[in-house]
Parts: sequence; structure tokens; C-alpha cells
Amino acid sequence: MEIDRRRIRRLIQRSRTQERTLDRLIRAQAWLDPVAGVVQRAVGGFYEALGSPGRAIKDVMHGTKVLGHPLHPALTDVPVGAWTLGVLADWLFIASGRVPPIAGDLALAGGLAGAVLAALTGYTDFHETSGHERRTAVVHGLTMTGVIVLDVISLVMRLSSPDLRPPAVVLSTVAWLIVVFGAYVGGHLTFGIGTAVNHNAFYDGPMDYVKVGSRNDFPEGEMKRVEANGLPVVILRREGLLHAIGAVCSHAGGPLHEGKVKDGVVTCPWHSSRFQFEDGKVLGGPATFDQPLLVVRERGGAVEVKLAYRLN
Ligand code: FES
Repeated sequence: MEIDRRRIRRLIQRSRTQERTLDRLIRAQAWLDPVAGVVQRAVGGFYEALGSPGRAIKDVMHGTKVLGHPLHPALTDVPVGAWTLGVLADWLFIASGRVPPIAGDLALAGGLAGAVLAALTGYTDFHETSGHERRTAVVHGLTMTGVIVLDVISLVMRLSSPDLRPPAVVLSTVAWLIVVFGAYVGGHLTFGIGTAVNHNAFYDGPMDYVKVGSRNDFPEGEMKRVEANGLPVVILRREGLLHAIGAVCSHAGGPLHEGKVKDGVVTCPWHSSRFQFEDGKVLGGPATFDQPLLVVRERGGAVEVKLAYRLN
């Protein structure tokens, strides 16, 4: 018994030391939770105060509307690229004088414009994070916000006096180094933790019809969860016809069959993304990806489904 306990303790200890340093450090920062709560309430309150236009704007900021893909990661390339160019231009000016000083200033200002948009979309996505993901997101967000502040100060110094240019260049260079760390945390958030990825990306399902129940299992107006060759599926009978989509919400994996359905549209119980049963299309964010769509047929009292198209 004692040996078992010691073995378990050793395993726990080993699993702790094997966790990434970044994750371990962030997990230990309990103070991040209240900070995250304040920011999330501020973001939610802002969009709520705008009423229904607020919902439409939020959908654009997530990328649900217009882009049809997460918007934040696409926008972050602008400041990172511009600031990298700016730092190079600044130091080439200082070292050789062959690059005009305005090149660094313009790159810094252009990066700031892109960073404001990236920050707005990032804080919008942050609104629906939770747990360890939320703590990691708040580290990423605060780091990048700090960078914006440093770069604004650097820009003001450059515009105030030529004598302040050297310290301003040092400041924006330090900010760029911090960006590298912030971008790493942002990358870990997506590729390590799975924020904003399509939660159906790795599912597969039947390309030929498989039986998932009988006619009487699917009464009018009720959602039912079934499995089709391992793919969780939610089926709805509406006006006599059966419709089927993937049951795992593409946003963060919420159970759609536990959500609310109205007029053939299901609202996810976790963050209220809305999907149309007829074609699996996402109608409202934070989700940016459609649900897998299945074709349903009733044959001799049996209900059968197959994927409408391959998922990967
Ligand atoms: S899990 Fe976030 S909206 Fe469904």
C-alpha cells in the first residue's frame, strides 16, 4: 500500500515537472483570474450596451461574419511585421544613416494602427475563454497591451524632439522583444491549448449511410444526440423532416444537443453560438466554423445518416 502511494506521488511529481514551464508558471498565478474576470465583464458589458448592433459588430470581430474565419490571428501579422521592419529601419538609420528616420516612425505608427484592431478582436475572443485558457489569454493580452503602450510612448518621444530619438528607438526595440514573447504565448494559446481552432477538425464520420435509430426515436421539435461511426451527431425533426449536424460545437466543443432550439436554429449552451440545422451554417458567433452537415434518410422505419461532405 505504502509502495503504491509512493509510486503515485512520484508519477504526479513527474507529470508536474514534465508540464511546459509556461503552463506551469501560468497555472500558479491565481491572481490572473480576477483580472481576467474584470476584463471579460468590461468586454461583455461594452457589446451588451450596444444592443443588437453590438451583436453584429461582435460577430465581425470574431470573424464569424465577413471573414468566415478567426479574424484576430490574421490581423496580428500586421503589427508584428511592421514593428520588425521599424526596428530594422531604426537601427540601420543609427548605424549607417542610409535609411531615413521617418521609415522607422512610419513602420511604428502603421504597426500601432494594426495593433489597435488586433487588440479589439483579441479582447473580443478573450470574452469567451475559461480556466487555464483564460489565464494564458490574459497573459497574452496584457503583454501585447503593454507593448502598445511602450510603442505609443516611443512614437510621442520621436515626434517631440530629435534628441529623444535614441531612447525612443531603444524603447521600441525593447517593445519588439516583448512582442516576440507575447506572440509565443498567443501561438501556444492556439496550437497548444486549442483556442479558436475548429473543434470538429479532427472528427471523421460515415460517407455511407449508417443506422442511428428508429422513426419513433425522433419526435417533432426535439433534439436527439446519436453517434454515427464515432461522430457525435444531433438530429432534429422539424415540420416532419429530419435534419442532422455535428453535436460538438465548432467553437469550443460545447454539447449542442443540450442547447436551445428555435425555428431550426440551435443555440450552444456554452457561449451562445447559433447554427442552422438545415445546412450546418454558423449564424452567430463566437464560433467561426460551420457544423459538420449530415444527410438523413428514413427507410422502413430506420433512420440513417451519412456525412454530406468529407471533414478532412
Ligand atoms: S462552445 Fe462556445 S459557443 Fe459553443
